[in-house]
Amino acid sequence: MSTTETPNDANGSTRTTRTTRTGAAYADAARDHLWMSFTRHSTYEPKEAGGAGGSVPIIVKCEGAYLWDDRGRKYIDGLAGLFTVQVGHGREELAEAAAKQARELAFFQLWSYAHQRAIELAERLAADAPGDLNRVFFTTGGGEAVESAWKLAKQYFKLTGKPGKYKVISRSIAYHGTPQGALSITGIPDAKIPFEPLVPGGVKVPNTNLYRAPEHLREDPKAFGRYAADRIAEAIEFEGPDSVAAVFLEPVQNSGGCFPPPPGYFERVREICDEYDVLLVSDEVICAFGRIGSMFASTDFGYQPDIITVANGMTSGYSPIGAMIASDRLFEPFRHGHEMFAHGYTFGGHPVSAAVAMANLDIFEREGLNQHVKDNAPLFRATLDKLLDLPLVGDVRGEGYFYGIELVKDKTTRETFNDEEAERLLRGFLSKALFDAGLYCRADDRGDPVIQLAPPLIIGQPEFDDIEQRLRSVLTEAENHIELSPPVRYRHL
Ligand SMILES: Cc1ncc(COP(=O)(O)O)c(C=O)c1O
Repeated sequence: MSTTETPNDANGSTRTTRTTRTGAAYADAARDHLWMSFTRHSTYEPKEAGGAGGSVPIIVKCEGAYLWDDRGRKYIDGLAGLFTVQVGHGREELAEAAAKQARELAFFQLWSYAHQRAIELAERLAADAPGDLNRVFFTTGGGEAVESAWKLAKQYFKLTGKPGKYKVISRSIAYHGTPQGALSITGIPDAKIPFEPLVPGGVKVPNTNLYRAPEHLREDPKAFGRYAADRIAEAIEFEGPDSVAAVFLEPVQNSGGCFPPPPGYFERVREICDEYDVLLVSDEVICAFGRIGSMFASTDFGYQPDIITVANGMTSGYSPIGAMIASDRLFEPFRHGHEMFAHGYTFGGHPVSAAVAMANLDIFEREGLNQHVKDNAPLFRATLDKLLDLPLVGDVRGEGYFYGIELVKDKTTRETFNDEEAERLLRGFLSKALFDAGLYCRADDRGDPVIQLAPPLIIGQPEFDDIEQRLRSVLTEAENHIELSPPVRYRHL
């Protein structure tokens, strides 16, 4: 690799001209060789080849809540990388923890052996997790944690005399990962259809989108919570209680644009799970580690899961790791005789990642990050609420440092955009315009069109204002860029 760096602006950022070892520009090499996740690659193909002629955005440097690209441009990180960098970027001590561990014991496995870092981390997670969730099974990420939780639920019921229980219930538009089991649990049709048939047994129920709730329930969140939870009982009855093993729910559902649980929702879900002997899995891959304000978001919302799945914030993304944290009851059948959970990952609980996780959690404690989120979340919310004066902004929702801003065609009727309009608005304008405006966040249309924010947990009012102002200017401009399709009744004339 050849590299030259020259000072670029008064902030001390640098314009970095870099080429790969073959002398190719990075953007060209990315276009020609990199296969990116969930990416429409035609965006980057040359126009002559039928593509859109765009250039792959390349991030080269980061610090605190800011990122720089290879053109030297600075962005506020409104998404903590990808719901991950809780303590902010550029923490020397996390880099040091990784280097120290790599020198001491770079790799060892947890297949009947153990290493000190995994033991310490398991002990720490068990201490922070609610109730008797004392047993930690490590993975390398969130999808594997979800996959592990479903496999454990199936095997647990086989070992305890209910072998017919294998199905899982989850919510519409929820994202739980891409392994084929986790994808069955995922509720986003476009992510699933290309890979069907998937693992059998995934059953979907409505999510907790209050903004799109049946009209008679919109003004009564408690009644809506009861209604949404009861759909789970209904699905269990319909499928047959003897066939249902688990319910997978995020504390705040991410996909679709941040759906917090209505009051009483999880209380009722817990009752239903107890009534039918169905495990409650709290998928906290995004919501744990301070995103809502506590180590585990089930604590924020006051419910007791049987399993918690985690990943992203555990190391703040400085090294990959995930985990399934299970209750004593679920481990019990594995304490005796020849039984074992015949499942594992070579890199699960990697020593470097476990060491980084310990150092990351030290930062949480030392800097009081969870309390910082609790104190500042109402200010973040109030700042984003100001955007509700814009004609495009229909709803601002979320909790902690995790918000979705839903864009609508008509605020009074809550009419949303059709597919063509959403495509023009989000992909055709917003994604690029937000990035060009110096805000890295997500414009998402997996459900209704939303802008999502989940910044590093270190930010405060100055950054909230900065984010609000950048959003305001782009969303104001966006109104000039949407040519709305005529209402449906005219199109059919
Ligand atoms: C709630 C939830 N579960 C599971 C996953 C999958 O995690 P990973 O991408 O690490 O496999 C994600 C990813 O964002 C997620 O948000």
